[in-house]
Amino acid sequence: MHSPISRRAFAIGGALCALAFGAAACGSDNNNSSSSTSGGASTSSKAQKVGVLLPDTQSSVRWESFDRPLLQAAFKKAGVPVTIDNAQGDKSTQQQQAEQLITNGAKVLLLVNLDSGSGAAIEANAQSRGVKVIDYDRLTLKGSAAYYVSFDNVKVGQLQGQGLVDCLSKAGGTPNIAELNGSPTDNNTTLFKQNYNSVLKPLYSSGKAKKVADQSVPDWDNQKALTIFEQMLQKTSNKIDGVLAANDGLGNSAISALKARKLKQIPVTGQDATPQGIQNILSGDQCMTVYKAVKKEADAASQLAIALSKGTAPAAGLVNGKTNDTARDVPSVLLTPEPITKDNIKVVFDDGFLKKDEVCAGKYASLCTKAGL
Ligand code: BGC
Repeated sequence: MHSPISRRAFAIGGALCALAFGAAACGSDNNNSSSSTSGGASTSSKAQKVGVLLPDTQSSVRWESFDRPLLQAAFKKAGVPVTIDNAQGDKSTQQQQAEQLITNGAKVLLLVNLDSGSGAAIEANAQSRGVKVIDYDRLTLKGSAAYYVSFDNVKVGQLQGQGLVDCLSKAGGTPNIAELNGSPTDNNTTLFKQNYNSVLKPLYSSGKAKKVADQSVPDWDNQKALTIFEQMLQKTSNKIDGVLAANDGLGNSAISALKARKLKQIPVTGQDATPQGIQNILSGDQCMTVYKAVKKEADAASQLAIALSKGTAPAAGLVNGKTNDTARDVPSVLLTPEPITKDNIKVVFDDGFLKKDEVCAGKYASLCTKAGL
């Protein structure tokens, strides 16, 4: 059961979510009507109910702004009923949501875990009830998912490390670098960090760059990131020349702290190509982001979910690898991430991921024009 405190936190989270995204984006979101409509390309009689478990709204805007609508659209197109829940960062809520989805007849779950322990428990329970699980974006270590669908997260980390180095090389000298890592309970954080460090460590050891701060941000919480980065500035007497921020939200926290101290712009990295991240690139506050085409991730996951629910094999070539979850290899779909700087910012618009009117408003209008958008 929820403690009164966590129940209250959940209610507040829900209210914040409703403010930010509109009520429809926050609770459950049923697409059941689509099962009987003829709008879908292949209205299958055999594909069964699917449940999606999103993690939160504060670690990245991606989950509600991109994953939810894109998953909704993918299942609608296939004529498969889907219910999408968001756990608002609460592990016991996510466990209850999984339980409820199974009770309501879901045969496949897409899970973005809040940590591997709670994810593995959800998967074990699902398995005992004959329900298949797909690890969506985050791998559940020692879990029992049938598939893992994500991006090549090794590559994401490398792109961030190389992106920071490229941006810093324009300034010359021996830069002081701060690392603002994602949540330590997210397996992706481990992969990102290992791989930006594979680029940065040789520079640290040869004295070409200096690591002056290195901290994880619990739950990827942007507010906590702000405090952590303020403390990093305090401790280093503002002597930070570049920030490896693991996603756009964390990057924006660093940028806010720099601005609050009226410090000059320095290279800051990111990930997710969020509207805010792209605006920060346009204004020169952020140096790069990593674009992950969530539509492809949602499409791949929905295709696998449909195959699982029908008991058929997925289309040839869709599963393109396997990923070790420390106990076994999980058949995986790993998509390719792309680095974005001011020079190729067009990509995210041409791909239909972002719309100009959500980025190029107000003071960004002239910056967009200048960037050729
Ligand atoms: C995802 C990122 C996201 C972060 C915070 C990671 O697991 O891969 O895209 O920014 O979680 O939600």
